[in-house]
Amino acid sequence: MSPAERYPVVPAPRFDVPAAQAVARAEAFADVMALRRTVRDFAARPVPADVLEHAVRAAATAPSGANLQPWRFVVLTDPERKRRLRAAAEAAEREFYAHRASAEWLDALAPLGTDASKPFLEDAPAVIVVFEVHRGPSTPRPYYVKESVGIAVGLLLAALHQAGLATLTHTPSPMRFLNEVCERPREERAYVVIPVGYPAEGATVPDITRKPHDDVIVRL
Ligand SMILES: Cc1cc2nc3c(=O)[nH]c(=O)nc-3n(C[C@H](O)[C@H](O)[C@H](O)COP(=O)(O)O)c2cc1C
Repeated sequence: MSPAERYPVVPAPRFDVPAAQAVARAEAFADVMALRRTVRDFAARPVPADVLEHAVRAAATAPSGANLQPWRFVVLTDPERKRRLRAAAEAAEREFYAHRASAEWLDALAPLGTDASKPFLEDAPAVIVVFEVHRGPSTPRPYYVKESVGIAVGLLLAALHQAGLATLTHTPSPMRFLNEVCERPREERAYVVIPVGYPAEGATVPDITRKPHDDVIVRL
């Protein structure tokens, strides 16, 4: 489409919720989301493949800068591929913890008990690696990539959670090794790694709290 050309228009989709139901729905959604926790121990129980497909479909509805949709979702379920992912990730993480992380960063991570060992990359029945898509031979220069991909990942986490699946938002550093494991070209840059599955029997999570509602909202 040339710069001067505009998209044709269609009527805005209607998704009407009667006012009487709106508050209850908003409250119910917030209550469901309050049950989401980052899980680091996964059961072997497989996840229904179609749930992953629909969750990615939901993620890909996200708004994006200039509608360029600068994301790719690589869904790994093959055990051998996950094994390779884990081996490469642990090598990168060992380097991070030993040499690259600042003392301040290590201090922030200490209460969460995270270290270079990443069994969840193999134990989780599925791992979704999300990539930013930058300018390349067949892709345009995107705008607001981090914001766009961040919103898409938020939708992905919400979609998986409301289908009863647990997730871990994992950000290995650096992430370049993911291009090779996921067979993605240079112009794609890994954004986050999301193991998906069901919590292992007896899985625990840190006993953390959220900020009080009135600390995060400003009403003017
Ligand atoms: C951008 C981002 C990166 C994260 N990276 C990691 C990670 O590499 N490893 C990990 O165990 N948790 C990671 N987390 C999970 C956070 O520690 C977790 O979301 C936070 O402690 C709140 O806990 P909750 O998700 O259970 O509510 C990450 C979360 C976000 C949003």
